[in-house]
Amino acid sequence: MNSQQAFFEEHGYVIVEKLFSDAECSELAGAASKLVNDFDPNETRSIFSTTEPDGKRDAYFLDSGDKIRFFWEKDALADDGSLLLPKERAINKIGHALHDRHPTFAQFSRHPQLKELAAQLGLKDLLLLQSMYIFKHPEIGGKVVWHQDQTYLFTSPNPAIGLWIAIDDATVENGCLWAIPKGHKEPLRSRFIREGLKQRTEVLNESPWNIQAKIPLEVPRGSVIVLHGLLPHMSEANLSKKPRQAYTLHLMQKDWHYAKDNWLQRPEDNPFTNF
Ligand code: FE2
Repeated sequence: MNSQQAFFEEHGYVIVEKLFSDAECSELAGAASKLVNDFDPNETRSIFSTTEPDGKRDAYFLDSGDKIRFFWEKDALADDGSLLLPKERAINKIGHALHDRHPTFAQFSRHPQLKELAAQLGLKDLLLLQSMYIFKHPEIGGKVVWHQDQTYLFTSPNPAIGLWIAIDDATVENGCLWAIPKGHKEPLRSRFIREGLKQRTEVLNESPWNIQAKIPLEVPRGSVIVLHGLLPHMSEANLSKKPRQAYTLHLMQKDWHYAKDNWLQRPEDNPFTNF
């Protein structure tokens, strides 16, 4: 086992600083910006907020596993659904199949350097499960509460691997990730289970997180944070005037099992694709 893999298995995350160039980050940011420019804001009023009850996930969200869809910041919409900000500052994220539906993201999601990183961590024959472009815009980008990704994408015998790619410098000031090192050795706390076009949260373990042990994962632009699917992590709201965009991927090995009651399901004729 190499030192990177050993660190990942011991701590539940590993950081590779500046794996990608400024030009590569700018290309992704430009592609995301163009998607928002072309997006008709009347397409949806679907909000993504982890501080709202999970019951608020709607069919637009639950059907987005093989599509490019847009989710608003909670504070960008008035009670009557009218937009309080220009759409360029009001989208929380785009998901969940940029890696299959958009040429720039499709190519980047299978970047040789990402493949090399996965290989160094001992992973092989991977499938891409989901992709998200997360804006966390200045002054409005919402908080993401403590969670384990395995809650949302349950795979076995191993949890899915998350890749979090910083498109901007991520710092405490603009809402970087925080994690509880070694927290991936603790049990899964809950599962987010799909039932048709509804979903519910099943609590498996009520132990509180040991948040005194949290550390900020500050990284420069172009860095990758690899996240174990059981590692507790969160990010604060971006109250600063600086952007904090990120592109994220989740992957599993082909020989792992993807739960049939995960919220994200692909149609039989459009299954998960290769990394
Ligand atoms: Fe997460």
